[in-house]
Amino acid sequence: MEVLVFENKESGSLYAAQVIANKVLMNNSINEDTVLGLATGSTPIDMYKELIDINKKGVSFSRIITYNLDEYYPMNMSSSHSYHYYMHDHFLQHVDIHEENIFIPDGEIKEEEISGFCEEYEWSIKKNNGIDIQVLGLGLNGHIGFNEPGASKNSLMQKVKLSDETRTATIPHFGNKENVPKQAISMGVRTILDADQIVLMAWGKEKAEIVKECIEGNVNKNVPASFLQEHNNVTIILDSGSASRLDKSRISQVETKLS
Ligand code: GLP
Repeated sequence: MEVLVFENKESGSLYAAQVIANKVLMNNSINEDTVLGLATGSTPIDMYKELIDINKKGVSFSRIITYNLDEYYPMNMSSSHSYHYYMHDHFLQHVDIHEENIFIPDGEIKEEEISGFCEEYEWSIKKNNGIDIQVLGLGLNGHIGFNEPGASKNSLMQKVKLSDETRTATIPHFGNKENVPKQAISMGVRTILDADQIVLMAWGKEKAEIVKECIEGNVNKNVPASFLQEHNNVTIILDSGSASRLDKSRISQVETKLS
């Protein structure tokens, strides 16, 4: 794992956006699509701002294809709580991506259609030759996407139950716990690990403990993000707060970008 520590989330977010932009530029120059796996939550918001800026400055996103990690279930697409809304609001409506290249799990489908939908989503990713770069945030309990503690390393996209901790963490967005959905549709751990490259961002002291477990702890299903240790192209982008609990004896493995 490559672990990069930045002074703050703004500089870390800019770096993450540049990693993506470089890939897009390279693929644009050889007329190839760039397939991105995208995340929601508060963590990637600044990265999306930077990407919008990069797009305005001339890097075309007309050949990007995006697959979002997850969506609450059930959830109306038009709801301001939906990840559909979030993605259009924070990123998609501001760039020159083609509508038909946007894939976000559908929180409106009928229960009995979910497994077919998930199979098609996985198939669609494969048809586009897999995800080039998967962007991830990190849940306080170590979840990636909505793969909660206990998730299997080989899980594929499916309907999942949200943990009590995750639902509690989401209360500020929904007003009260009753309003927080109990389920979601999420890419599986295997879907995520199949990406060519993974970029995980985490900001702030409150993530410091789980960042440490993800990077330095044993690989185990109680911390789904620890499975990333088994992937050969992962970049973890941190700020000084989220990096503050990392073992000093391993600090040589950490490229410090503090200015
Ligand atoms: C949500 C999302 C995850 C996200 C995580 C962290 O549960 N499903 O994809 O990474 O929360 O959220 P935040 O970035 O707001 O800390």
